[in-house]
Formats: sequence, structure tokens, C-alpha cells
Amino acid sequence: MPYPMEGLPRQVTIYEVGPRDGLQNESAIVPVEVKAEFIDRLADAGHRVIEATSFVHPKWVPQLADAEDLLTRLNRRPGVRYPVLVPNERGLDRALERGVTEIAVFASATETFAAKNLNRTLESQFVMFEPVVARALEHGVKVRAYVSMCFGDPWEGPTPVSQVVAVGERLLGLGCHELSLGDTIGVGTPGHVTALIEAFGSPARLAVHFHDTYGQALGNTLAALKAGVTTVDASTGGIGGCPYAESATGNLATEDLVWMLHGLGIETGLDLDKLVSTSTWLAGALGRPSPSRVVQALAKG
Ligand code: HMG
Ligand code: MG
Repeated sequence: MPYPMEGLPRQVTIYEVGPRDGLQNESAIVPVEVKAEFIDRLADAGHRVIEATSFVHPKWVPQLADAEDLLTRLNRRPGVRYPVLVPNERGLDRALERGVTEIAVFASATETFAAKNLNRTLESQFVMFEPVVARALEHGVKVRAYVSMCFGDPWEGPTPVSQVVAVGERLLGLGCHELSLGDTIGVGTPGHVTALIEAFGSPARLAVHFHDTYGQALGNTLAALKAGVTTVDASTGGIGGCPYAESATGNLATEDLVWMLHGLGIETGLDLDKLVSTSTWLAGALGRPSPSRVVQALAKG
């Protein structure tokens, strides 16, 4: 029986990032047919938005070098969105050739991570994104934007809130419909989350993207929901990380999030049992157990 709390939304959209953020960080290259089945199982469990892959440089992220092949194999279901990550115009060309209708660009809030993840400066990352967003919108393609290292960065320490807001506002100003605030290395805490969301003035176009490195992701999510956010990124099984930020571990596990949300009486449209069996199946394919606490508890039966 759910026990609701005041001040929380009735419904939350879970933006599933397992096939992209999760699989980009696996040391083994996962066969493309396993990826396609993973995405199909996620849709079957009720996901309505599944970030499928990345059109980044294949030398930078070899794990997702099969993006074209994967998209041709997708069993696209009506009502399910399959956005892909795109850093630059080359990536956009590749995505458009495959008929993609939603993309996500990904910026850094810090100078060092812009260099390590994008080979750009904080300023020149916008030179890369501007034509991508403009051309995508001309093609009727919706654009989400991420900001990484919103709370802290392994090289520069805590990230000033004003620096995150400045980067985020510029991305929204380009015409991105949603801004996902990334805690890439999982160092944020709930009060910091509240302060950052409030600094944006309105939560309407914000989403949150927590990695669970320090075990703060669920607490941070609750703070974000209380501050008015209704879209939360998560990865089924809690797989994930960022290959260009060594201290990043997996994303908040979708199952852990769903357990909390359903306990609060918040609708997600997701079937927890199907998610757990998907994670158990994927753990077999990856050769390692899921780090999700809920998967570990429920898979034991
Ligand atoms: P660069 O080396 O500066 O690229 O990399 P360039 O523009 O100088 O081009 C060099 C060559 O690469 C050219 O080929 C391009 O055509 C080719 P050449 O003319 O020499 O033969 N090229 C490409 N090929 C295929 N697809 C492309 C592409 N772009 C260029 N898209 C670049 C710049 C941005 C491409 C590179 O730095 C890159 O791919 N970075 C991606 C890194 C990445 O994927 N990181 C993980 C995702 S971010 C994340 O996980 C964080 C997030 O989850 C949120 C959070 O947790 O905070 C989103
Ligand atoms: Mg991430």
C-alpha cells in the first residue's frame, strides 16, 4: 500500500538511459542483438522514453560504435521515444540518415571536463552545439540538452551553481526542450540539488540525472521532486558511468527509483517485475551482477 507525501507530483516520467549511459561504460563490447533485445525488453516493461545509443566518435566510445546497426534492428513501438546522443554535426548527419526524431546534446559545466569529454573549451562547446541544435530543429527533431558535472568535478572540485545555470540557460536559449542536470560523479547532496533547481527560477524544463557513486541518488531525486522536477533519468539495473570521468559509477537504478516512487503512490507506468527480470537477464549477458539494491533483493525471490 502506498504512503504518499505532500508536495510531490502524481506522475513521474522516467527517462531510461541504460542502453546508452549504461552500455557505454561496459569494458566488454555487448553484441548488437543483445542491445536491441535490451531496448525491446525496456519498452515491454513500460518505458516510453529510452535513450538508445550515441552518434559520437567511435574511437572515443567503441562500445557504441554500432549505433547505425542498432537503429536498423530496433523494434520501434508506437508511443515509445528513442532519443540518441549527438555531440556535433557529423553525429547529427549520422542520426538523420537513420531517421532519428529526437537527439540529446551534452555540455559540460566545467572547463576540464569539456576538454576531456568533448575536446573543446567551455566556450567552444557552444560553437559545436549551436549548428547541431539549429539544424535538428529545422528537421523537426527535438533536442534535449545535458549539463555534466553540475555538482562537482574530479579536477576542479565543487561546481559553482551560477556556472551551471549559465551553461544551462544558454542551452535552453538555443531551443532545447529539456535540460538534464547531470551529477556525473555522484557527489551532490539534497540541499545542493534544491539550491541548483531554485537558481534556475522554474523547474518546468528541468530533468535530473544522478549517478549513485556516493549513494545519494535517491535522496537527491526526492529533493528534485519536491522542487518541482517531474522527469528523472535512470538506468535499468544501475549500470553505467562515464568513460571520461573515472570516478563515475552507475546511474541511479531504475528499479530503486521505481520502488521509491511506487511506495509514494507516484505513477511511472513501469512494471517492476519486468525491469528486474530484464536486469537479471542483462547481468547474465554482461557477466556481472546488477549493482541495484532492489534487483538484488527481488531477484533472490
Ligand atoms: P574531435 O576529435 O575534436 O573531433 O572529437 P573533430 O571534430 O576534430 O573530428 C575529428 C575526426 O573525427 C573527423 O574525421 C570527424 O569526421 C570524425 P577525419 O576528418 O579526421 O577523418 N568525427 C566523427 N565521426 C563519427 N561520429 C562523430 C564524429 N565527430 C567527429 N560524431 C567529439 C570531438 C565530440 C567527436 C569527441 O570528443 C567525442 O566523440 N566525444 C564523445 C565523448 C562521449 O561520448 N562521452 C560520454 C557521453 S557524455 C556522458 O556520459 C555524460 C551524461 O551521461 C550526463 C552526465 O552523467 O553528466 C550525458
Ligand atoms: Mg551520465
